[in-house]
Amino acid sequence: MQYAEITGWGKYTPPTVLSNEEMTTFVDTSDEWISTRTGIKERRISHINTAEMSAIACEHALASAGLSADDIDLIIVATCTPDLLVPNTASKVQELLGTNNSACFDINAACSGFLYGLQNASAQIHVGMAKKVLLVGAERMSWFVNWQDRQTAVLFGDGAGAVVLEATDEKVGLLESKSSCDSNSREILKVLGMGTDIDIYKEPLGPLTIQFMGPDIFKRAVKGMGMATNTVMEKANLKVEDINLLIPHQANLRIIETLQNKLKLTDDQCMVNIQKYGNTSAATVPLALCEAVEQGKIKPYDNIISAAFGAGLTCNASYIKWGKRVTPVNEFAGKEQACDKTAKELLAHAIADLKK
Ligand code: ACO
Repeated sequence: MQYAEITGWGKYTPPTVLSNEEMTTFVDTSDEWISTRTGIKERRISHINTAEMSAIACEHALASAGLSADDIDLIIVATCTPDLLVPNTASKVQELLGTNNSACFDINAACSGFLYGLQNASAQIHVGMAKKVLLVGAERMSWFVNWQDRQTAVLFGDGAGAVVLEATDEKVGLLESKSSCDSNSREILKVLGMGTDIDIYKEPLGPLTIQFMGPDIFKRAVKGMGMATNTVMEKANLKVEDINLLIPHQANLRIIETLQNKLKLTDDQCMVNIQKYGNTSAATVPLALCEAVEQGKIKPYDNIISAAFGAGLTCNASYIKWGKRVTPVNEFAGKEQACDKTAKELLAHAIADLKK
């Protein structure tokens, strides 16, 4: 069997920042409430779509792996905010990367999407169906936000993270993974306004809005991520002292701290960047993973545990053994997408529409 090593990593974080303070000018909330209840201080609002964010993250990941887009045989985009339902976002990413050598598909497992994708991509490499895979977690969550609903509006942000997975004989990469879904509770977290559930002859599509029962999801996320992590550690025969780094989904700092405390890990052993980006759904794990390598938190052959929970209700915990290389082969030499608009300018239509 071949293993699936992470050989490249990259991210795109939109340049436009929406701080808690600025949000209080159009949402009935406060910096104090958001900071203490969620850990979020600011989030990014994107001026470009999910595929464009994904493609930039991919360019960074490809440079980091020392590969070109033509080397890739599969592109997977984990997202619940696709550019269009059809065709898929991954095909647009392929087009933007200027290649057509790869298979392309999207995965929607909401916040667990990247880890579901990691399981699928690694499995394809394990059985020899793919050799080099680009896996992206990307979301334009600001598209869904109802700015009149303060419970959800304060939580989400935009961004993208990508990894390159390559076949290797060395026993590294995803070594254990547990995915699950509790469909009995799927109604407690949903986005309304799109899909075949709607009779378009009776009601128009949209506007899209996130609806969820926050405290209920909070408890289920703590329980689900904890149980999945235990299962993966038992299956991999890993003890707490074997773990070098925890990369949890970034939905709420209190959920992260509960998992960190359960595993008895120090702050240095737990990757947290929710304060900068909020919940970017499928993008949180690859964004955190990418920043962990950039910040030198990942050492050669480290044991990494990652866990996520999201709409579905989907859940995944994963055990990743890092490979030898922790520095990029090359840096991306292309241009980033600049934006001269403020967050309020980018959101002007959404804010104005809801005041009508
Ligand atoms: N600003 C100020 N006050 C607020 C805000 C806000 N933004 N939101 C809620 N409140 C108020 C409420 O009205 C309530 O007031 P009351 O006591 O007078 O009635 C009080 O704060 C407490 O509200 P709760 O909803 O109980 O707050 P809680 O501490 O549970 O935090 C939160 C809410 C942050 C949403 C939390 O439940 C949470 O993080 N849930 C999990 C989210 C998650 O895991 N998501 C992952 C999946 S997302 C995906 O898949 C796309």
